[in-house]
Amino acid sequence: MSLALIPDFDLSARNTLALRARSRFAIALEDAAQLPALLTEAGSRNLPLRILGGGSNVVLAPDFDGITALVALKGKAIVAQSDDATIIEAAAGETWHDLVVWTVGRNLGGLENLALIPGTAGAAPVQNIGAYGSELADMFESLIAYDRQTGAERSFTRQQCAFAYRDSVFKQQPGRYIVLSVRLRLPRDWRPNLNFAGLAELADDPALSPEAVMDRVIALRTSKLPDWRQTPNAGSFFQNPIVTPDQAAPVLAEFPTAPNFAQPDGRLKLSAGWLIEKSGLKGFRLGPVGISERHALVVVNHGGGEQSDIAALARHIKETVSTRFGIQLHEEPIFM
Ligand code: EPU
Repeated sequence: MSLALIPDFDLSARNTLALRARSRFAIALEDAAQLPALLTEAGSRNLPLRILGGGSNVVLAPDFDGITALVALKGKAIVAQSDDATIIEAAAGETWHDLVVWTVGRNLGGLENLALIPGTAGAAPVQNIGAYGSELADMFESLIAYDRQTGAERSFTRQQCAFAYRDSVFKQQPGRYIVLSVRLRLPRDWRPNLNFAGLAELADDPALSPEAVMDRVIALRTSKLPDWRQTPNAGSFFQNPIVTPDQAAPVLAEFPTAPNFAQPDGRLKLSAGWLIEKSGLKGFRLGPVGISERHALVVVNHGGGEQSDIAALARHIKETVSTRFGIQLHEEPIFM
């Protein structure tokens, strides 16, 4: 298989933070069959190979001295129907939101709370995307990934993915697996998940459709989160910290109404956006980058920023929140 490596490739339009970023080589990955030859090529040139999906959860280096494979695997279909579920399959390069709209358009419920999340279907399991009380793991059936360690494709069940809050085996072993396709299980007896504030009032409608829930989710996200096309950003920049009751105690003593959510293991999930805002950082700027005026959890590039600017800002935010509340924040996007 021939490999069309493109030299000195500009990635600034391929990451939603719009960071200045170039790669020594890039290639469109349109067929999984390219992978063995691509890995051999990278090995013989002694260059690292990294995989880029929608570029919505990454902080790219200005000059990557290697090969960036742009995932362009396409295709989506209903692959099985049973009494209790419809199974759909999407190739890794499909746009996640388009997939949600495609299912909802067929009156298949399950993904509607995850509407408008940027990125690709293949990236969705890596950080187990979640919003409005749902996460990918809830609807996950299986996936196929290429294992760079063995040079073979293998299938993963939900258990084998080790999904947790914004986490999976693919995030734990960065670079090892390349997700090729994902299967999702959409239940026949769909019940809307309206537990999240802002969706609960929809419960009064007995004829509620997946589409109506999706429309509300889109309206909520649009009202809260800046659009990366206008204000480049990578969504939530930090995970919501999950801490022990002891660690949360000083925060809750000072602010009894601080958002906090009990976890099954007895710990508490605090709101990183709330902690950052209460540390006085909403709208804060550091050089060309800053924190959104609209949502304190969103780091934005006001123009001309690069990886080091984001790293300096992230450091400042973590130090400020740690000094103010004694809570350690962890970045959600991957620096690469
Ligand atoms: N808050 C503030 N100030 C702010 C923003 C939020 O005080 O500037 C408070 C809110 O008042 C609320 C709490 O923080 O009580 C939570 O805010 P929000 O409902 O906006 O959700 P979030 O916890 O900040 C999470 C996900 C989002 C997801 C939303 C909606 C994480 C890290 N983020 O944000 O996911 O869309 O819930 O379900 O879990 C993403 O991962 O990129 C992402 C956008």
